[in-house]
Amino acid sequence: MTRRKRTALPLSQQPLPVTLLAKARSPLAIVLGSPAEVRHVLAELSGIEATCFQLDHFQGERLREELATANCSAEVCVLADLWDLPAGFASVLYLPARGGERELKIDMIEQAYHILRPHGLFLVWSAYEDEEFFPAQLKKVFGKVHLPPQEGSRSESSLLWCVREGDRPRRRHEITFQVKIGEGPSCRFVSRPGTFSYGRFDDGARALCEIMEIEAGDRVLDLGCGVGTNGVFAAQRAGEHGYIAFVDSNQRACTLAALNARANGVAKFDVFATSTVEGPEPDSFDVVLANPPYYANSTIAQMFIRRAKQMLTPQGKFFLVTRQPRELGDLFLETFGQGDVVENRGYAIMCS
Ligand SMILES: C[S@@+](CC[C@H](N)C(=O)[O-])C[C@H]1O[C@@H](n2cnc3c(N)ncnc32)[C@H](O)[C@@H]1O
Repeated sequence: MTRRKRTALPLSQQPLPVTLLAKARSPLAIVLGSPAEVRHVLAELSGIEATCFQLDHFQGERLREELATANCSAEVCVLADLWDLPAGFASVLYLPARGGERELKIDMIEQAYHILRPHGLFLVWSAYEDEEFFPAQLKKVFGKVHLPPQEGSRSESSLLWCVREGDRPRRRHEITFQVKIGEGPSCRFVSRPGTFSYGRFDDGARALCEIMEIEAGDRVLDLGCGVGTNGVFAAQRAGEHGYIAFVDSNQRACTLAALNARANGVAKFDVFATSTVEGPEPDSFDVVLANPPYYANSTIAQMFIRRAKQMLTPQGKFFLVTRQPRELGDLFLETFGQGDVVENRGYAIMCS
């Protein structure tokens, strides 16, 4: 099979496939998708009762704003798992991200099955995928896949659909990895698709953990904690009187940070699911750790720097690992007044 289809237009600028217009039924769940894509779909399916699933609070908030602006009424749920939504949807529409993580796509297909009512319909609308990926994955879970007509319109050619028949056990996609820093004890971490970093300990995180300075009894903020590795290693050094606040905008990451903190014996901790670092007490942390994402033109890294300053006590220490010290250097100095850069494993750890 060599029908490889790549369309240049984003879904939000394409007409909805006629099959989607004809087959979508209330109640509908829309899985992921950008705010513009979800708004576009809901505007065309006017009157449909819809619930929108997102993994990240930042995306969830942007989607709520977008829907409010367009006067679309739909509930937006930010959850760790799609199958945390109540089962019983008549249709589920998945809008996979351009170039998104393969394992997350497999996981969403698996979980979508479990929120459909019997004979419910699962639709995947994708403008750019390798056309062999989704048919094969859908077949594994749903048995039978309805492929787009070969000579269909551009949009029509990227819609696939399946019907939920029978039942199947829930299959969790996750990878557990084991990490040791220096002479410290070995820790196990559970990771799931859609979280950083899936299936392995990040090199930047290791570079950060080798340099960070933690004293017994420290209050540590793990900013953008992912599955919680850095906070767990900090907790080993802070000891039983220490405290760790794990913060992430990704709800699945937050769930895993809690699970991993408990499993690795972190004595005192809280997890805050937030995209604006709301929740932890300002001016109260001895150490803030950050390994910010590189996307969004460093805007998240900049926000992390500003919020870290507000969270630290006057003597508190900030450690941020990056491959882009030049982009962040000015803001770092402006915010903290002084600082050092330590090189480790090809990364820069900005310390103040
Ligand atoms: C590069 S990962 C680092 C994860 C983990 N700390 C590590 O070192 O492996 C960056 C993390 O920041 C989180 N993040 C992105 N934007 C955020 C925001 N606005 N607020 C909080 N966390 C955010 C992402 O979900 C991701 O888990």
